[in-house]
Amino acid sequence: MPPIIEAVGAAPPASALVVALTPVDGAGALDARARADLERFGGANLTANLTASLVATIARDKVKGHPGEVVAVPAGDRLVLAAGVGAGGPRELRRAGAAVVRRLASVENATIALARRANPTQLRALVEGLLLGGYSFKITGSPKPETLKRLWVLVERPSAAATAAIATGVTTATATRLARDLANTPSSTKTPAWLARQAQMLARRHGLDVRVRDERELRAEGFGGIVAVGMGSANPPRLIELSYTPSDPVAGHVVLIGKGITFDSGGLSLKPNAGMIAMKTDMAAGGAVIATMSALRDLGARVKVTGLVPTAENMPSGSAQRPSDVITHYGGTTVEVLNTDAEGRLVLADALAYADARLDPDVVVDLATLTGAISTGLGKRHAGLFATDERLAAALLEASEASGEGAWRMPLVDDYRDALDSSVADLSNIAVAATNYRAGAIVAALFLREFAGRRRWAHLDIAGVGRAEADEHEVVKGPTGYGVRLLLHWLAGADPLRGLRGLRGLRGLRGLRGLRGLR
Ligand code: BES
Ligand code: MN
Ligand code: ZN
Repeated sequence: MPPIIEAVGAAPPASALVVALTPVDGAGALDARARADLERFGGANLTANLTASLVATIARDKVKGHPGEVVAVPAGDRLVLAAGVGAGGPRELRRAGAAVVRRLASVENATIALARRANPTQLRALVEGLLLGGYSFKITGSPKPETLKRLWVLVERPSAAATAAIATGVTTATATRLARDLANTPSSTKTPAWLARQAQMLARRHGLDVRVRDERELRAEGFGGIVAVGMGSANPPRLIELSYTPSDPVAGHVVLIGKGITFDSGGLSLKPNAGMIAMKTDMAAGGAVIATMSALRDLGARVKVTGLVPTAENMPSGSAQRPSDVITHYGGTTVEVLNTDAEGRLVLADALAYADARLDPDVVVDLATLTGAISTGLGKRHAGLFATDERLAAALLEASEASGEGAWRMPLVDDYRDALDSSVADLSNIAVAATNYRAGAIVAALFLREFAGRRRWAHLDIAGVGRAEADEHEVVKGPTGYGVRLLLHWLAGADPLRGLRGLRGLRGLRGLRGLRGLR
Protein backbone atom coordinates (compact mmCIF):
# COMPACT_ATOMS: atom_id res chain seq x y z
CA MET A 1 0.00 0.00 0.00
CA PRO A 2 1.36 3.42 -0.92
CA PRO A 3 1.34 6.12 1.79
CA ILE A 4 -1.73 8.32 2.19
CA ILE A 5 -0.94 11.91 1.22
CA GLU A 6 -2.78 15.00 2.40
CA ALA A 7 -2.33 18.76 2.44
CA VAL A 8 -1.95 20.41 5.84
CA GLY A 9 -1.49 24.04 6.90
CA ALA A 10 0.46 23.23 10.05
CA ALA A 11 2.84 20.36 10.69
CA PRO A 12 1.36 17.52 12.77
CA PRO A 13 3.80 15.61 15.01
CA ALA A 14 5.60 13.37 12.53
CA SER A 15 8.57 11.02 12.69
CA ALA A 16 10.36 12.91 9.93
CA LEU A 17 10.55 16.41 8.51
CA VAL A 18 11.63 17.30 4.99
CA VAL A 19 12.66 20.88 4.26
CA ALA A 20 13.60 22.49 0.97
CA LEU A 21 17.15 23.21 -0.04
CA THR A 22 17.45 25.90 -2.67
CA PRO A 23 20.54 26.70 -4.71
CA VAL A 24 22.05 30.04 -3.71
CA ASP A 25 25.40 31.16 -5.17
CA GLY A 26 26.22 27.65 -6.31
CA ALA A 27 25.56 25.99 -2.95
CA GLY A 28 22.52 24.54 -1.21
CA ALA A 29 20.95 26.86 1.36
CA LEU A 30 18.18 26.65 3.94
CA ASP A 31 15.85 29.64 3.94
CA ALA A 32 14.18 31.26 6.93
CA ARG A 33 11.08 29.17 6.43
CA ALA A 34 13.05 25.93 6.53
CA ARG A 35 14.74 27.11 9.74
CA ALA A 36 11.38 27.94 11.29
CA ASP A 37 10.05 24.50 10.36
CA LEU A 38 13.12 22.89 11.92
CA GLU A 39 12.51 24.86 15.08
CA ARG A 40 8.92 23.72 15.31
CA PHE A 41 9.93 20.14 14.61
CA GLY A 42 12.96 19.89 16.85
CA GLY A 43 12.06 22.26 19.64
CA ALA A 44 14.28 25.23 20.42
CA ASN A 45 17.15 23.20 21.95
CA LEU A 46 17.45 20.68 19.19
CA THR A 47 17.02 23.18 16.39
CA ALA A 48 20.32 24.96 16.70
CA ASN A 49 22.05 21.58 16.50
CA LEU A 50 19.92 20.35 13.63
CA THR A 51 20.43 23.46 11.59
CA ALA A 52 24.15 23.46 12.32
CA SER A 53 24.64 19.83 11.34
CA LEU A 54 22.54 20.24 8.18
CA VAL A 55 24.53 23.28 7.16
CA ALA A 56 27.81 21.49 7.92
CA THR A 57 26.79 18.42 5.88
CA ILE A 58 25.67 20.59 2.98
CA ALA A 59 29.05 22.32 2.94
CA ARG A 60 31.11 19.13 3.47
CA ASP A 61 29.30 17.18 0.72
CA LYS A 62 29.19 20.21 -1.58
CA VAL A 63 25.43 19.83 -1.91
CA LYS A 64 24.08 22.28 -4.48
CA GLY A 65 20.32 22.22 -3.93
CA HIS A 66 19.63 20.40 -7.21
CA PRO A 67 16.60 18.11 -7.39
CA GLY A 68 17.56 14.57 -6.42
CA GLU A 69 20.04 15.69 -3.74
CA VAL A 70 19.03 14.78 -0.19
CA VAL A 71 20.89 15.48 3.04
CA ALA A 72 19.84 13.53 6.13
CA VAL A 73 20.57 14.16 9.81
CA PRO A 74 19.13 12.19 12.72
CA ALA A 75 17.07 14.12 15.25
CA GLY A 76 16.90 11.77 18.21
CA ASP A 77 14.62 8.91 17.15
CA ARG A 78 13.33 11.07 14.35
CA LEU A 79 14.78 12.14 11.02
CA VAL A 80 15.39 15.42 9.25
CA LEU A 81 15.96 15.67 5.51
CA ALA A 82 16.85 18.65 3.40
CA ALA A 83 16.06 18.05 -0.26
CA GLY A 84 17.17 20.03 -3.28
CA VAL A 85 14.32 21.55 -5.25
CA GLY A 86 16.30 23.59 -7.80
CA ALA A 87 14.14 26.31 -9.28
CA GLY A 88 11.01 24.50 -8.10
CA GLY A 89 9.46 23.60 -11.47
CA PRO A 90 7.25 20.54 -11.92
CA ARG A 91 10.04 18.34 -13.25
CA GLU A 92 12.23 19.35 -10.33
CA LEU A 93 9.56 18.70 -7.73
CA ARG A 94 8.84 15.29 -9.24
CA ARG A 95 12.51 14.46 -8.91
CA ALA A 96 12.75 15.88 -5.40
CA GLY A 97 9.67 13.91 -4.32
CA ALA A 98 11.12 10.69 -5.70
CA ALA A 99 14.52 11.23 -4.03
CA VAL A 100 12.88 12.08 -0.71
CA VAL A 101 10.56 9.11 -0.59
CA ARG A 102 13.47 6.71 -1.12
CA ARG A 103 15.00 8.08 2.09
CA LEU A 104 11.74 7.84 4.04
CA ALA A 105 11.25 4.09 3.63
CA SER A 106 11.99 3.34 7.29
CA VAL A 107 9.78 5.97 8.98
CA GLU A 108 6.03 5.74 9.55
CA ASN A 109 5.10 9.25 8.56
CA ALA A 110 6.62 12.56 7.56
CA THR A 111 5.88 16.21 7.04
CA ILE A 112 7.03 17.46 3.64
CA ALA A 113 7.68 21.19 3.61
CA LEU A 114 9.14 21.32 0.12
CA ALA A 115 6.50 23.23 -1.72
CA ARG A 116 4.76 25.47 0.71
CA ARG A 117 4.02 28.19 -1.80
CA ALA A 118 3.65 25.78 -4.68
CA ASN A 119 0.95 26.22 -7.29
CA PRO A 120 -1.32 23.27 -8.15
CA THR A 121 0.93 22.09 -11.01
CA GLN A 122 3.91 21.89 -8.68
CA LEU A 123 1.96 20.16 -5.92
CA ARG A 124 0.70 17.56 -8.35
CA ALA A 125 4.26 16.95 -9.54
CA LEU A 126 5.57 16.57 -5.99
CA VAL A 127 2.88 14.03 -5.17
CA GLU A 128 3.59 12.07 -8.36
CA GLY A 129 7.28 11.95 -7.43
CA LEU A 130 6.49 10.76 -3.90
CA LEU A 131 4.18 7.97 -5.06
CA LEU A 132 6.12 6.83 -8.13
CA GLY A 133 9.66 6.99 -6.71
CA GLY A 134 8.52 4.81 -3.81
CA TYR A 135 7.00 2.11 -6.01
CA SER A 136 8.23 -1.44 -5.66
CA PHE A 137 7.00 -4.83 -6.81
CA LYS A 138 8.09 -8.05 -5.19
CA ILE A 139 6.60 -11.52 -5.09
CA THR A 140 7.85 -12.98 -1.82
CA GLY A 141 7.08 -15.82 0.55
CA SER A 142 7.37 -13.46 3.52
CA PRO A 143 5.49 -10.29 2.64
CA LYS A 144 5.81 -7.36 5.03
CA PRO A 145 3.72 -4.20 4.91
CA GLU A 146 5.46 -0.98 3.94
CA THR A 147 6.54 1.12 6.93
CA LEU A 148 5.72 4.53 5.45
CA LYS A 149 2.01 5.10 5.99
CA ARG A 150 1.34 8.80 5.79
CA LEU A 151 2.76 11.95 4.20
CA TRP A 152 1.60 15.43 5.16
CA VAL A 153 2.35 18.03 2.52
CA LEU A 154 2.75 21.39 4.21
CA VAL A 155 1.13 24.19 2.21
CA GLU A 156 0.62 27.85 2.96
CA ARG A 157 -3.15 27.43 2.95
CA PRO A 158 -4.81 24.02 2.49
CA SER A 159 -7.18 25.52 -0.09
CA ALA A 160 -9.59 23.58 -2.29
CA ALA A 161 -7.14 24.05 -5.17
CA ALA A 162 -4.27 22.54 -3.18
CA THR A 163 -6.39 19.61 -2.07
CA ALA A 164 -7.59 19.04 -5.64
CA ALA A 165 -4.03 19.19 -7.01
CA ILE A 166 -2.92 16.57 -4.53
CA ALA A 167 -5.92 14.39 -5.39
CA THR A 168 -5.03 14.67 -9.09
CA GLY A 169 -1.45 13.66 -8.38
CA VAL A 170 -2.65 10.71 -6.32
CA THR A 171 -5.00 9.60 -9.11
CA THR A 172 -2.43 9.78 -11.92
CA ALA A 173 0.27 8.15 -9.79
CA THR A 174 -2.09 5.40 -8.64
CA ALA A 175 -3.01 4.68 -12.26
CA THR A 176 0.68 4.61 -13.21
CA ARG A 177 1.39 2.20 -10.35
CA LEU A 178 -1.45 0.00 -11.59
CA ALA A 179 0.12 -0.06 -15.08
CA ARG A 180 3.44 -1.05 -13.48
CA ASP A 181 1.77 -3.82 -11.45
CA LEU A 182 0.12 -5.24 -14.56
CA ALA A 183 3.41 -5.24 -16.48
CA ASN A 184 5.34 -6.71 -13.54
CA THR A 185 2.96 -9.65 -13.15
CA PRO A 186 4.60 -12.82 -14.53
CA SER A 187 3.13 -14.17 -17.74
CA SER A 188 2.31 -17.51 -16.09
CA THR A 189 -0.36 -15.58 -14.18
CA LYS A 190 -0.99 -12.87 -16.73
CA THR A 191 -2.78 -14.72 -19.51
CA PRO A 192 -5.00 -12.77 -21.93
CA ALA A 193 -8.04 -14.03 -19.97
CA TRP A 194 -6.46 -12.80 -16.71
CA LEU A 195 -5.79 -9.37 -18.18
CA ALA A 196 -9.40 -9.22 -19.36
CA ARG A 197 -10.62 -10.11 -15.86
CA GLN A 198 -8.51 -7.31 -14.40
CA ALA A 199 -10.10 -4.91 -16.88
CA GLN A 200 -13.57 -6.12 -15.92
CA MET A 201 -12.86 -5.63 -12.21
CA LEU A 202 -11.46 -2.16 -12.80
CA ALA A 203 -14.40 -1.25 -15.01
CA ARG A 204 -16.82 -2.08 -12.20
CA ARG A 205 -14.79 -0.06 -9.72
CA HIS A 206 -14.31 3.00 -11.95
CA GLY A 207 -17.62 3.32 -13.76
CA LEU A 208 -16.60 2.03 -17.19
CA ASP A 209 -18.52 -0.17 -19.59
CA VAL A 210 -16.60 -3.24 -20.65
CA ARG A 211 -16.92 -5.89 -23.30
CA VAL A 212 -14.51 -8.77 -23.72
CA ARG A 213 -14.50 -10.82 -26.90
CA ASP A 214 -13.18 -14.36 -26.50
CA GLU A 215 -11.40 -16.38 -29.15
CA ARG A 216 -14.61 -17.80 -30.61
CA GLU A 217 -16.12 -14.34 -31.06
CA LEU A 218 -12.85 -12.97 -32.46
CA ARG A 219 -12.81 -15.74 -35.07
CA ALA A 220 -16.48 -15.26 -35.93
CA GLU A 221 -16.14 -11.49 -36.37
CA GLY A 222 -12.98 -11.67 -38.46
CA PHE A 223 -10.25 -10.46 -36.09
CA GLY A 224 -7.71 -12.52 -38.03
CA GLY A 225 -4.60 -10.81 -36.64
CA ILE A 226 -5.43 -11.34 -32.98
CA VAL A 227 -6.46 -14.93 -33.65
CA ALA A 228 -3.29 -15.70 -35.66
CA VAL A 229 -0.93 -14.29 -33.03
CA GLY A 230 -2.75 -16.11 -30.23
CA MET A 231 -3.19 -19.49 -31.83
CA GLY A 232 0.20 -20.94 -30.84
CA SER A 233 -0.58 -20.50 -27.16
CA ALA A 234 -2.55 -22.65 -24.72
CA ASN A 235 -3.88 -19.32 -23.37
CA PRO A 236 -6.29 -18.02 -26.03
CA PRO A 237 -6.52 -14.34 -27.02
CA ARG A 238 -9.08 -11.70 -26.09
CA LEU A 239 -10.11 -8.24 -27.23
CA ILE A 240 -10.82 -5.92 -24.30
CA GLU A 241 -13.05 -2.92 -24.98
CA LEU A 242 -13.52 -0.38 -22.19
CA SER A 243 -15.69 2.69 -22.60
CA TYR A 244 -15.91 5.86 -20.59
CA THR A 245 -18.91 8.14 -20.93
CA PRO A 246 -18.43 11.52 -19.24
CA SER A 247 -21.25 12.93 -17.14
CA ASP A 248 -20.69 16.43 -18.53
CA PRO A 249 -19.43 15.75 -22.05
CA VAL A 250 -17.83 17.90 -24.72
CA ALA A 251 -18.29 16.69 -28.30
CA GLY A 252 -16.08 14.02 -29.75
CA HIS A 253 -14.70 10.54 -29.24
CA VAL A 254 -11.15 9.36 -28.56
CA VAL A 255 -10.10 5.76 -29.11
CA LEU A 256 -6.99 4.52 -27.30
CA ILE A 257 -5.41 1.25 -28.38
CA GLY A 258 -2.72 -0.59 -26.41
CA LYS A 259 -0.68 -3.60 -27.50
CA GLY A 260 -1.44 -6.41 -25.08
CA ILE A 261 1.02 -9.22 -25.81
CA THR A 262 1.17 -11.00 -22.44
CA PHE A 263 4.37 -12.75 -23.49
CA ASP A 264 6.36 -12.33 -26.69
CA SER A 265 8.55 -15.36 -27.33
CA GLY A 266 8.71 -14.34 -30.97
CA GLY A 267 6.56 -17.32 -31.94
CA LEU A 268 8.17 -19.65 -34.50
CA SER A 269 10.50 -16.74 -35.33
CA LEU A 270 11.79 -17.41 -31.81
CA LYS A 271 13.74 -14.79 -29.90
CA PRO A 272 17.07 -15.64 -28.26
CA ASN A 273 16.78 -16.05 -24.47
CA ALA A 274 18.36 -12.71 -23.55
CA GLY A 275 15.88 -10.83 -25.70
CA MET A 276 12.96 -12.86 -24.40
CA ILE A 277 13.30 -12.23 -20.65
CA ALA A 278 11.85 -8.73 -20.78
CA MET A 279 8.90 -9.84 -22.89
CA LYS A 280 6.45 -10.32 -20.04
CA THR A 281 6.19 -6.54 -20.31
CA ASP A 282 5.10 -6.63 -23.96
CA MET A 283 1.61 -5.71 -22.74
CA ALA A 284 2.90 -2.54 -21.03
CA ALA A 285 0.98 -0.36 -23.50
CA GLY A 286 -2.22 -2.35 -23.03
CA GLY A 287 -1.79 -2.03 -19.27
CA ALA A 288 -1.25 1.72 -19.67
CA VAL A 289 -4.49 2.01 -21.65
CA ILE A 290 -6.43 0.02 -19.01
CA ALA A 291 -4.90 2.13 -16.22
CA THR A 292 -5.62 5.39 -18.05
CA MET A 293 -9.26 4.40 -18.53
CA SER A 294 -9.51 3.63 -14.81
CA ALA A 295 -8.60 7.23 -13.88
CA LEU A 296 -10.86 9.19 -16.26
CA ARG A 297 -13.89 9.50 -14.00
CA ASP A 298 -11.84 10.57 -10.96
CA LEU A 299 -10.16 13.26 -13.05
CA GLY A 300 -13.48 14.48 -14.42
CA ALA A 301 -12.43 13.96 -18.06
CA ARG A 302 -15.08 15.44 -20.37
CA VAL A 303 -14.48 13.57 -23.60
CA LYS A 304 -15.84 10.15 -24.51
CA VAL A 305 -13.02 7.59 -24.56
CA THR A 306 -12.92 3.98 -25.70
CA GLY A 307 -9.92 1.82 -24.79
CA LEU A 308 -9.12 -1.23 -26.91
CA VAL A 309 -6.59 -3.82 -25.78
CA PRO A 310 -6.04 -6.69 -28.20
CA THR A 311 -4.32 -9.26 -26.01
CA ALA A 312 -2.62 -12.52 -26.98
CA GLU A 313 0.35 -14.67 -26.02
CA ASN A 314 2.88 -15.10 -28.85
CA MET A 315 4.14 -18.68 -28.55
CA PRO A 316 5.65 -21.33 -30.84
CA SER A 317 3.82 -24.65 -31.01
CA GLY A 318 2.19 -27.11 -33.40
CA SER A 319 -0.75 -24.75 -33.71
CA ALA A 320 1.28 -21.54 -34.10
CA GLN A 321 1.15 -19.38 -37.20
CA ARG A 322 4.04 -19.91 -39.60
CA PRO A 323 6.31 -17.44 -41.34
CA SER A 324 4.74 -17.24 -44.85
CA ASP A 325 1.12 -17.67 -43.66
CA VAL A 326 -1.40 -15.19 -45.05
CA ILE A 327 -3.95 -13.84 -42.59
CA THR A 328 -7.06 -11.69 -43.06
CA HIS A 329 -7.51 -8.75 -40.73
CA TYR A 330 -10.72 -7.17 -39.47
CA GLY A 331 -12.22 -5.43 -42.49
CA GLY A 332 -10.58 -7.75 -45.03
CA THR A 333 -7.00 -6.55 -45.57
CA THR A 334 -4.69 -9.54 -46.07
CA VAL A 335 -1.16 -9.77 -44.68
CA GLU A 336 1.69 -12.11 -45.42
CA VAL A 337 3.36 -12.93 -42.10
CA LEU A 338 7.06 -13.11 -42.94
CA ASN A 339 8.17 -12.88 -39.31
CA THR A 340 6.01 -14.05 -36.42
CA ASP A 341 8.00 -11.82 -34.06
CA ALA A 342 6.46 -8.75 -35.72
CA GLU A 343 3.25 -9.68 -33.91
CA GLY A 344 2.31 -6.41 -32.22
CA ARG A 345 1.35 -4.76 -35.50
CA LEU A 346 -0.89 -7.74 -36.32
CA VAL A 347 -3.04 -7.40 -33.21
CA LEU A 348 -3.03 -3.59 -33.48
CA ALA A 349 -4.12 -3.72 -37.13
CA ASP A 350 -7.35 -5.49 -36.15
CA ALA A 351 -8.04 -2.98 -33.39
CA LEU A 352 -7.33 0.01 -35.67
CA ALA A 353 -9.56 -1.34 -38.44
CA TYR A 354 -12.32 -2.09 -35.92
CA ALA A 355 -12.11 1.41 -34.43
CA ASP A 356 -12.32 2.96 -37.90
CA ALA A 357 -15.20 0.77 -39.07
CA ARG A 358 -17.29 0.65 -35.91
CA LEU A 359 -16.49 3.37 -33.38
CA ASP A 360 -16.47 6.58 -35.45
CA PRO A 361 -13.60 8.17 -33.50
CA ASP A 362 -12.37 11.73 -34.05
CA VAL A 363 -8.92 10.64 -32.94
CA VAL A 364 -7.20 7.28 -32.56
CA VAL A 365 -4.02 6.97 -30.49
CA ASP A 366 -2.23 3.66 -30.22
CA LEU A 367 0.62 2.78 -27.88
CA ALA A 368 2.86 -0.23 -28.32
CA THR A 369 6.16 -1.77 -27.31
CA LEU A 370 6.53 -2.21 -31.03
CA THR A 371 10.17 -2.17 -32.16
CA GLY A 372 13.65 -2.52 -30.75
CA ALA A 373 14.62 -0.04 -33.45
CA ILE A 374 12.93 2.88 -31.70
CA SER A 375 15.32 2.70 -28.75
CA THR A 376 18.30 2.42 -31.09
CA GLY A 377 17.30 5.85 -32.37
CA LEU A 378 15.74 7.57 -29.37
CA GLY A 379 17.10 5.73 -26.33
CA LYS A 380 15.10 5.27 -23.15
CA ARG A 381 13.86 8.80 -22.44
CA HIS A 382 11.65 9.47 -25.45
CA ALA A 383 8.91 7.45 -27.02
CA GLY A 384 8.64 7.71 -30.81
CA LEU A 385 5.58 9.71 -31.79
CA PHE A 386 4.12 9.23 -35.27
CA ALA A 387 1.05 11.16 -36.36
CA THR A 388 -1.02 11.89 -39.44
CA ASP A 389 -2.22 15.18 -37.99
CA GLU A 390 -0.14 18.16 -36.91
CA ARG A 391 -2.51 19.37 -34.23
CA LEU A 392 -2.82 15.92 -32.69
CA ALA A 393 0.97 15.62 -32.63
CA ALA A 394 1.20 19.05 -30.99
CA ALA A 395 -1.39 18.16 -28.34
CA LEU A 396 0.44 14.94 -27.46
CA LEU A 397 3.85 16.64 -27.37
CA GLU A 398 2.43 19.27 -25.05
CA ALA A 399 1.06 16.54 -22.75
CA SER A 400 4.44 14.83 -22.91
CA GLU A 401 6.22 17.99 -21.82
CA ALA A 402 3.76 18.68 -19.00
CA SER A 403 3.74 15.12 -17.67
CA GLY A 404 7.48 14.49 -17.83
CA GLU A 405 7.02 11.46 -20.09
CA GLY A 406 9.27 12.23 -23.04
CA ALA A 407 8.20 11.87 -26.66
CA TRP A 408 9.84 12.83 -29.93
CA ARG A 409 8.15 13.21 -33.30
CA MET A 410 9.20 10.73 -35.98
CA PRO A 411 8.44 10.94 -39.69
CA LEU A 412 6.04 8.71 -41.63
CA VAL A 413 8.26 8.44 -44.69
CA ASP A 414 6.01 7.70 -47.67
CA ASP A 415 9.01 6.62 -49.74
CA TYR A 416 9.44 3.62 -47.44
CA ARG A 417 5.91 2.36 -47.91
CA ASP A 418 6.86 -0.03 -50.73
CA ALA A 419 8.89 -2.04 -48.20
CA LEU A 420 5.56 -3.52 -47.16
CA ASP A 421 4.44 -4.61 -50.66
CA SER A 422 3.83 -8.35 -50.66
CA SER A 423 3.70 -10.52 -53.76
CA VAL A 424 0.97 -12.75 -52.33
CA ALA A 425 -1.11 -10.47 -50.05
CA ASP A 426 -2.15 -6.82 -49.65
CA LEU A 427 0.76 -6.21 -47.27
CA SER A 428 3.77 -7.90 -45.72
CA ASN A 429 4.23 -7.61 -41.94
CA ILE A 430 7.95 -6.74 -42.19
CA ALA A 431 10.06 -4.98 -44.77
CA VAL A 432 10.59 -7.35 -47.70
CA ALA A 433 14.15 -8.34 -48.55
CA ALA A 434 14.14 -6.34 -51.79
CA THR A 435 14.22 -3.05 -49.87
CA ASN A 436 16.88 -1.95 -47.42
CA TYR A 437 15.57 1.16 -45.73
CA ARG A 438 16.41 -0.02 -42.18
CA ALA A 439 14.17 2.41 -40.24
CA GLY A 440 12.35 -0.46 -38.50
CA ALA A 441 10.24 1.79 -36.27
CA ILE A 442 9.10 3.91 -39.21
CA VAL A 443 8.24 0.90 -41.37
CA ALA A 444 6.22 -0.55 -38.46
CA ALA A 445 4.34 2.75 -38.10
CA LEU A 446 3.64 2.80 -41.85
CA PHE A 447 2.17 -0.68 -41.51
CA LEU A 448 -0.20 0.53 -38.78
CA ARG A 449 -1.20 3.60 -40.77
CA GLU A 450 -2.68 1.32 -43.43
CA PHE A 451 -5.40 0.35 -40.93
CA ALA A 452 -6.32 3.77 -39.54
CA GLY A 453 -8.49 4.79 -42.50
CA ARG A 454 -9.06 8.53 -42.69
CA ARG A 455 -9.03 9.00 -38.93
CA ARG A 456 -6.66 11.39 -37.25
CA TRP A 457 -4.19 8.89 -35.88
CA ALA A 458 -1.10 8.90 -33.68
CA HIS A 459 1.16 6.06 -32.62
CA LEU A 460 3.56 6.00 -29.68
CA ASP A 461 6.30 3.37 -29.94
CA ILE A 462 7.15 2.81 -26.27
CA ALA A 463 9.54 -0.15 -26.63
CA GLY A 464 12.39 2.00 -25.23
CA VAL A 465 10.59 3.89 -22.48
CA GLY A 466 8.33 1.04 -21.33
CA ARG A 467 10.95 -0.36 -18.98
CA ALA A 468 13.88 1.05 -17.08
CA GLU A 469 17.21 -0.65 -16.36
CA ALA A 470 17.74 1.29 -13.12
CA ASP A 471 15.99 3.60 -10.68
CA GLU A 472 15.99 7.11 -12.05
CA HIS A 473 13.94 9.94 -10.55
CA GLU A 474 10.26 8.98 -10.47
CA VAL A 475 10.95 5.87 -12.54
CA VAL A 476 12.09 2.66 -10.86
CA LYS A 477 13.85 -0.33 -12.42
CA GLY A 478 11.38 -2.46 -14.37
CA PRO A 479 8.17 -1.43 -16.12
CA THR A 480 7.66 2.34 -15.98
CA GLY A 481 3.92 2.70 -16.56
CA TYR A 482 4.82 5.03 -19.43
CA GLY A 483 1.91 6.63 -21.19
CA VAL A 484 -0.55 6.90 -18.31
CA ARG A 485 0.57 10.35 -17.19
CA LEU A 486 0.90 11.65 -20.74
CA LEU A 487 -2.54 10.41 -21.77
CA LEU A 488 -4.20 11.67 -18.61
CA HIS A 489 -2.65 15.12 -19.01
CA TRP A 490 -4.10 15.22 -22.48
CA LEU A 491 -7.52 13.68 -21.82
CA ALA A 492 -8.24 15.49 -18.55
CA GLY A 493 -7.26 18.85 -20.03
CA ALA A 494 -9.89 21.45 -20.86
CA ASP A 495 -10.75 20.25 -24.37
CA PRO A 496 -8.46 17.51 -25.66
CA LEU A 497 -10.17 17.55 -29.06
CA ARG A 498 -9.89 21.27 -29.78
CA GLY A 499 -9.35 21.52 -33.55
CA LEU A 500 -9.43 17.73 -33.83
CA ARG A 501 -13.04 16.90 -34.62
CA GLY A 502 -14.09 15.13 -37.78
CA LEU A 503 -12.18 13.10 -40.34
CA ARG A 504 -8.64 13.78 -41.46
CA GLY A 505 -8.60 14.99 -45.04
CA LEU A 506 -11.55 17.34 -44.70
CA ARG A 507 -9.07 20.19 -44.53
CA GLY A 508 -7.47 18.89 -47.71
CA LEU A 509 -10.86 18.74 -49.39
CA ARG A 510 -11.59 22.29 -48.32
CA GLY A 511 -8.29 23.24 -49.96
CA LEU A 512 -9.39 21.57 -53.17
CA ARG A 513 -12.68 23.39 -53.11
CA GLY A 514 -10.74 26.64 -52.70
CA LEU A 515 -8.70 25.82 -55.79
CA ARG A 516 -11.86 25.11 -57.77
CA GLY A 517 -13.21 28.47 -56.65
CA LEU A 518 -10.16 30.13 -58.15
CA ARG A 519 -10.78 28.62 -61.55
N1 BES B 1 7.95 -6.69 -28.51
C1 BES B 1 8.94 -6.56 -29.52
C2 BES B 1 9.66 -5.22 -29.50
C3 BES B 1 10.52 -4.93 -28.32
C4 BES B 1 11.88 -5.18 -28.37
C5 BES B 1 10.00 -4.34 -27.18
C6 BES B 1 12.67 -4.88 -27.28
C7 BES B 1 10.79 -4.05 -26.09
C8 BES B 1 12.13 -4.31 -26.15
C9 BES B 1 8.29 -6.72 -30.89
O1 BES B 1 7.21 -7.58 -30.96
C10 BES B 1 9.33 -7.28 -31.81
O2 BES B 1 9.73 -8.39 -31.63
N2 BES B 1 9.75 -6.48 -32.79
C11 BES B 1 10.74 -6.89 -33.72
C12 BES B 1 10.24 -6.52 -35.10
C13 BES B 1 11.02 -7.15 -36.22
C14 BES B 1 10.80 -8.65 -36.23
C15 BES B 1 10.58 -6.54 -37.54
C16 BES B 1 12.03 -6.14 -33.41
O3 BES B 1 11.99 -4.98 -32.99
O4 BES B 1 13.09 -6.76 -33.52
MN1 MN C 1 7.80 -9.60 -31.25
ZN1 ZN D 1 6.17 -7.80 -29.21
